[in-house]
Amino acid sequence: MDCQKTSKVNSKPIDDIIYRYRLAHMLNAAVEKGIFTRMTVPKKAHQLAEEIHYDPRTTEKLLNVLVASGLMIKSGEEYQNSLVGQTFLVDGEQNYIGNLVRITVGSNALLDHLNDILKNGSTLQRGIDFDRVQLLGHAEGALCEELDLVLNSIKGMPEFSHAKRILDLGGGHGVYSMALAQSNPSAIVALFDQPNVIEFAKEFISKYEMDGKIRFISGDFNTDDIGTGYDMVFVSHVLYLSSNLPSILRKIYNSLNNGGTVVLNHWMIDDCRTSPRVSVIFDLYISLISRDYGCHTVSEFNEILRDAGFEDVSVFDIRTPHSPSMIVVGLKK
Ligand SMILES: C[S@@+](CC[C@H](N)C(=O)[O-])C[C@H]1O[C@@H](n2cnc3c(N)ncnc32)[C@H](O)[C@@H]1O
Repeated sequence: MDCQKTSKVNSKPIDDIIYRYRLAHMLNAAVEKGIFTRMTVPKKAHQLAEEIHYDPRTTEKLLNVLVASGLMIKSGEEYQNSLVGQTFLVDGEQNYIGNLVRITVGSNALLDHLNDILKNGSTLQRGIDFDRVQLLGHAEGALCEELDLVLNSIKGMPEFSHAKRILDLGGGHGVYSMALAQSNPSAIVALFDQPNVIEFAKEFISKYEMDGKIRFISGDFNTDDIGTGYDMVFVSHVLYLSSNLPSILRKIYNSLNNGGTVVLNHWMIDDCRTSPRVSVIFDLYISLISRDYGCHTVSEFNEILRDAGFEDVSVFDIRTPHSPSMIVVGLKK
């Protein structure tokens, strides 16, 4: 045995993964039960357990885990949210990301098939079901991680300030539609998405009293007309499927006025396809749905945009450790 060699390595990368896995599930259990929403005032473990009809002994252990993780504080026998827990995990608060926790950790029906799919290479071959929790989780992800970075990049584009008609294709919850409309009040902003998602977007947008400011178009962008006469088409976290990418970009190209731009915001993977880590994990995760899903590289987007007819392709690197997004912009001359 080569002792020299073993003494230089340790198992920390593996330990980190396995303990975080356990912790993520414990956090998800607390979020699912609305524990942070109930712990805005100090309470003893048995009081919380009584409220939520849980076993007091295990509830206390769960609270201890949340204290050890910095999400709660304990004073004497009483527990209460820490600043982080209070800011991000109390339902109804502005920065709530509980649904983001739920869609990232909770609904892992896909991961249940990981071994089968690795073995057989086949995938589930069904579309992604964008239910309410998914849409809320995506909205929270946008608000918490990317919105400011995306918007700052777009605001710097002269095509944006001159735009009269903007399309948010696959706009989902409508966070970006609202932000685009607020930043350019003279533009008409339309959100295109599937019919059930449009119903959700209408409800979500009305909470921000922006309903009159956004137009809604429901349909399937693979088969339906997306309209014409746009000065900007914004597409965020929609184009992870490779088979329909050329035809959608061609459709977007045809929908734009001359001088119009397409703005794509997606998690990108490097050419080596082994970094950044969040994208690499996502690349495998979404390919469990269909072998056709995956992250693209900047050069892949560049090539497909050029093939669709776009020119002057430019890239804005807005990656953060948790959100490896890049913006790719193409111009229709
Ligand atoms: C991951 S969400 C992105 C939502 C939002 N753009 C964002 O960045 O958070 C993808 C959205 O694309 C929509 N979408 C996917 N395929 C579509 C299709 N064929 N026609 C219309 N919308 C579609 C989904 O319904 C969903 O709302």
